[in-house]
Amino acid sequence: MAAGRDILVLHGPNLNLLGRREPSTYGTASLEEIDADLKALADKEGYALRTFQSNHEGELVDLVQAHGPEVAGTLINAAAYTHTSIALRDAFLAVGTPVVEVHITNVHRREEFRQHSYLADIAVGQVTGFGPASYRLGLAGLIDHLRRRDA
Ligand code: DQA
Repeated sequence: MAAGRDILVLHGPNLNLLGRREPSTYGTASLEEIDADLKALADKEGYALRTFQSNHEGELVDLVQAHGPEVAGTLINAAAYTHTSIALRDAFLAVGTPVVEVHITNVHRREEFRQHSYLADIAVGQVTGFGPASYRLGLAGLIDHLRRRDA
C-alpha cells in the first residue's frame, strides 16, 4: 500500500505491560488486542498501520524521524514521555506529520504532573479517558482529519 495511506502508531514506555499493569487503572486489554482493534478499523477505512512500542525515548524519536516523513499521520500514546519529552515534541515538529495524542486514562483527572503534555498543543487533537477505546476514537479522528484536509 502506498505510504500516503500508512499511519504510524507509537506506544511509549510500559505500554507493553498493558493488561497486567495496574489493571484497575489501565484495564485488562493487552497491547496486542488494542493493536488488532486498530488494525481492523484501519483496514475498513483503507489505511495500513506501522505499529511500534518502545520503552526508550531516543528510539521513539528515531521512529518518528524514520517513518514520520512517509506516513499520512501518527497516532501516539507517549505514556510518561508525554509529560517530559521535549525531544519527542521536537521530532514531530521536525517531520511535520499530523499527530493525534491518546491516553487510556483521563490524565486531567490524575496527578498534576500528568496534566501537562508536551504534545497537546502541536497535536490535531487529544483523546483521553475512554480506556482502550481512546485508541480507536483517536484513529477515527485522525482519519477524519486527513480526509477533510485532503478533500
Ligand atoms: C497514559 C497516562 C500517562 O500519564 C502514563 O504515564 C502512562 C499511560 C495513559 O494512557 O493513560 O503510562 O499515557
